Amino acid sequence: MEKTKCTTPLFFPSIFLASILLLARETDASCNPKRGSYNKLFVFGDSFADTGNLGKLGREFTHCWYVPYGTTFPGKPTGRFSNGRVLTDFVASFMGVRSPVPYKSRKAGSKVLSYGMNFAVGGAGVFDTGNFQRNLSEQIDLLKQQIDCGVFSVCDLKMSVGMVAVSGNDYSYVASRKNSTEAAFDMIPSVVKQIKSDIERVLNLGVAKVIITNLHPLGCTPYFTRGRNFTDCDVLANMGALVHNTALKQALSQLDRTQSSVLLLDLNSPFYDIVSQVKGLT
Ligand SMILES: *[C@@H]1O[C@H](CO)[C@@H](O)[C@H](O)[C@H]1NC(C)=O
Ligand SMILES: *[C@@H]1O[C@H](CO)[C@@H](O)[C@H](O)[C@H]1NC(C)=O
Ligand SMILES: *[C@@H]1O[C@H](CO)[C@@H](O)[C@H](O)[C@H]1NC(C)=O
Repeated sequence: MEKTKCTTPLFFPSIFLASILLLARETDASCNPKRGSYNKLFVFGDSFADTGNLGKLGREFTHCWYVPYGTTFPGKPTGRFSNGRVLTDFVASFMGVRSPVPYKSRKAGSKVLSYGMNFAVGGAGVFDTGNFQRNLSEQIDLLKQQIDCGVFSVCDLKMSVGMVAVSGNDYSYVASRKNSTEAAFDMIPSVVKQIKSDIERVLNLGVAKVIITNLHPLGCTPYFTRGRNFTDCDVLANMGALVHNTALKQALSQLDRTQSSVLLLDLNSPFYDIVSQVKGLT
């Protein structure tokens, strides 16, 4: 953690000049998303979205920094929990922008900040998940800090999209700590409530739209299928994901009745459809 708050590269010679430029940019027509398209992505979440924030802590703890991770994209391990692209990369490409720089690499130069910033870190949860990774609230604190430091302007935020990708670490943490699936189910309302308030916070910071993912069929992931030779999904875990998704949908409808600033990205249906096409997994 930094001692000083504003340690990002200075694009402007002084704060004074920065604020003049900021004013100039604010009145610029390019600040209106209707005239252009959204060109920055701010990402919060866990390993589904992390593109390099998790420290390299050795092969045992952080596989994402070692082959075969990263071999098909971007060509070498970069801290992505995938051999290829993660969600952040796909969403950025749909927006027509480059994948935003991981917060951890933000000092590489001002150019890397043009596409937003990725605060997601593998292992994170909405709440603390016992592995010292920044929870969602702390990730949002970092965006606020970047704004306060003048790295991103009001105009930048107006042209930006936020993404919240939370994939179940809160549930796996509590289930293993308490050795109880029930404890994970019990936690659903508080997780969803916290997600809702975190989304509100991102919007209140000035981000124009927020994309939130729902939970994939947890019971069809290797963690659950391994014990069955990868031939069957865990029904209870899948049910947990559905309960979460239903609660999430309801919370979103309270948050944004017009559905214009909060968008649900459904990961569950496509994932389940693919898995269902494999014989014996329906
Ligand atoms: C997030 O983490 C910080 C630091 O550990 C903690 O103070 C805060 O309560 C956490 N937030 C939530 C919602 O758990
Ligand atoms: C966890 O719970 C299961 C079922 O309730 C029980 O069989 C098992 O012994 C427990 N494991 C531990 C480590 O407590
Ligand atoms: C998994 O496969 C192995 C080898 O084919 C077999 O011996 C074992 O019984 C299988 N286990 C389950 C749970 O199906």
